[in-house]
Amino acid sequence: MISVAIDGPAGAGKSTIARAAAKELGFLYADTGALYRAVACYMMSRVDPADASAVVPLLDEVSVELKFAEGEQRVFLNGEDVSDRIRTPEVSVHASEVSQIPQVRQFLFSLQQDLAKTNSIVMDGRDIGTVVLPHAAVKIFLTADPEVRARRRFRELTEKGLEVTFEEVLADVVKRDDADMHRAVSPLRQAADAVRVDTTDCSLEESIARVIRVIREKQG
Ligand code: DC
Repeated sequence: MISVAIDGPAGAGKSTIARAAAKELGFLYADTGALYRAVACYMMSRVDPADASAVVPLLDEVSVELKFAEGEQRVFLNGEDVSDRIRTPEVSVHASEVSQIPQVRQFLFSLQQDLAKTNSIVMDGRDIGTVVLPHAAVKIFLTADPEVRARRRFRELTEKGLEVTFEEVLADVVKRDDADMHRAVSPLRQAADAVRVDTTDCSLEESIARVIRVIREKQG
């Protein structure tokens, strides 16, 4: 089994690029942010997702699963497919909050590791190369300037028909970067042995090509 870990901040293009790379290589693609989003989805209608003492006891009621159909990942929360519901800006904020709780990270840890034990995989997230798959054959840290990432996110959200302003999206990107990089457990950081790919000045096609090139070079 070969694992490729792709980490980086929100909006760097991780999911699109990782999906394309996985397809090219014939590997499974797993988006681990979806797991934190599913947990957030459960918590946000019940408790304050930022309140660890309220969230942790409720983890007993939660079952999160990833299923793959024709290479596409679907995420299930207590048996219900929530893959579309987890993509709102509100869930983004709460996913970042629950991801700061060590017990939530622990709760999702083995699910992620088990996937990589049984499949050649491209996995994207924040701590894949540093914590979840420290022995991944290839590690990539994908990044871009905050304004560029916010512009991409803004386009994505408005294309889906969500009513947001660019300023809101930029503020959300900056806030989430700060929270993801400065949390106490598994903060977002580049693994020592990761290759940094900055996509600020790259088109999507160029970014995909660069990532695939890095993977092929590492694979020898
Ligand atoms: O990649 P995303 O925007 O779907 O991730 C949602 C949140 O989940 C993000 O703010 C940080 C958190 N996350 C994490 O802490 N660790 C991961 N491996 C993936 C996501």
